[in-house]
Amino acid sequence: MIEPTIEEALGKQINQEFTAAYNYLGMSAYFDSQSLDGFANWMQIQHDEEVEHGMRLFRYLLDRGGKIELKAIPAPQSEYDNTMSVFETALEQERENSRCINQLYELATQSNDFATKSHLQWFLDEQVEEEKSIEDIIAMLRLAKDDVSALLFLNDKLGSRETGQDGSLEDGE
Ligand code: FEO
Repeated sequence: MIEPTIEEALGKQINQEFTAAYNYLGMSAYFDSQSLDGFANWMQIQHDEEVEHGMRLFRYLLDRGGKIELKAIPAPQSEYDNTMSVFETALEQERENSRCINQLYELATQSNDFATKSHLQWFLDEQVEEEKSIEDIIAMLRLAKDDVSALLFLNDKLGSRETGQDGSLEDGE
């Protein structure tokens, strides 16, 4: 069995992951509307990853005998000022998610719930990777500034990301 406080916190985190997925899907739709299909592809794979994260927690909570009450997912933002503002929003979302995972880990530590801590370890590592990927893309966008060819080059690069690959710029070459 799992403690009610951990059960509730994991339930919240499941919602957080699916909310993130939905937000990425909104970002993907935005890029598609801007004819930036490479960025749209990257965001769609990001969506798929978040669904996978949500499902990892969903499965774990069930395996521990927890009860799941799925909550509503807010509508995602669908309009953005520009490419940079999308990635800045994505970074803020990932930083917030890292804070949530850290709090969850702290709660599991206080409750001596070693199995949950072990399960969360994967998420802690994943957050480092996700924040770095987005920070790297923001750095590239800063360098590109208003250079359309640089933006299209980046669009091509992000377009080569395949399902199962993390979002780093080194991948998908
Ligand atoms: Fe599931 Fe991007 O954190």
